[in-house]
Amino acid sequence: MITNRKIEHLMVCAAEDVESGKTGLEDVRFIHNAVPEIAKSKIDVTAEFLGRRFTAPIFIAGMTGGHREATAVNAALSEAAEQLGIGIGVGSQRAAIERPEQIESFSIVRERAPTAFVVANIGATQIKEYDLDIIERIIEMVDADALAIHLNFLQEAVQPEGNTNAEGCLDAIKSLSESLRVPIIAKETGAGISREAATLLKEAGASAIDVGGAGGTSWAKVETYRAQKDPLLERLGELYSNWGIPTAISILESLTLPVIGTGGIRHGLHVAKAIALGASLCGIGLPLLKLAIKGPEDVISEITAITEELKVAMLLTGCRTLADLKRCPLIITGETKEILQQRGFDLTELQTRR
Ligand SMILES: Cc1cc2nc3c(=O)[nH]c(=O)nc-3n(C[C@H](O)[C@H](O)[C@H](O)COP(=O)(O)O)c2cc1C
Repeated sequence: MITNRKIEHLMVCAAEDVESGKTGLEDVRFIHNAVPEIAKSKIDVTAEFLGRRFTAPIFIAGMTGGHREATAVNAALSEAAEQLGIGIGVGSQRAAIERPEQIESFSIVRERAPTAFVVANIGATQIKEYDLDIIERIIEMVDADALAIHLNFLQEAVQPEGNTNAEGCLDAIKSLSESLRVPIIAKETGAGISREAATLLKEAGASAIDVGGAGGTSWAKVETYRAQKDPLLERLGELYSNWGIPTAISILESLTLPVIGTGGIRHGLHVAKAIALGASLCGIGLPLLKLAIKGPEDVISEITAITEELKVAMLLTGCRTLADLKRCPLIITGETKEILQQRGFDLTELQTRR
């Protein structure tokens, strides 16, 4: 059943409009610098996250595995990650625990990306049920550098097979964090992480947050396509298709830990804004999935183009490094400003820093 679900997700995401809402990044503006006094050729976009260095602040979001077709997609994504010197996540490895013949669809990632930063993936609801040795198998399957634990209760609530028992996840994360040899990244999948949730996850032992904010792939929309024969699920999916904390807001909310800004990141100016808000890396999912179906070359050219777009934003703001970009003044307008003010953020600090 899980294997079928994973391939259905992949097919729906590749073929249908599954994006929804706004990231809030449209309300974030840089101030153009007419005299930047730097050479674009000297701009350095190398990034640091959990003690590792990356050639660009871009991370291939964990998406797939658990099906024969997913093996080729993961092969393309991991070849791109290896060649570009960036990190990569895999999709939930639950399918491989329940059906060992699916292991290859995940282990291919480490085979094709022997030196990349690879992130294993499992759901918060599964870690409550699994013994430590199963979690260790999940990590070994991709020789992972970190374990992402995904929080996806919106998706669980709108999918036919959903597990909506969210009790005990923090305790399970805490006990894992005390036993594992790799860091834990707590990860949302499209509804974002609040400051309160980030604090609880930090206390439970998470080492980083992948915000998985709203404004990109919407699991409520994905599941609406799958639920077409079930009027209640379809109704739920439609009602909640815009639910969640937009990515820009969630990055600021989660800065108690190192952050991967994911959710609707579609070009280099989005990456620049997310980094300026405080993210260490930016995760990209859906667009890379669609390209990976064709092979690694298109993934490589897309990420190369996004990196060039990022460098132009850095040139035009006079930022030579990502550390400079993190100190670059930002103007926040519109709904994002209103939400951040109501959440108690001091926006004058963002406007006047440097
Ligand atoms: C087809 C597909 C499958 C996904 N599967 C998983 C998963 O198994 N585990 C997980 O943590 N996130 C999963 N995600 C969520 C992504 O990691 C990411 O958080 C989300 O897609 C938002 O980024 P985007 O707007 O760039 O797509 C999946 C996303 C897609 C598109």
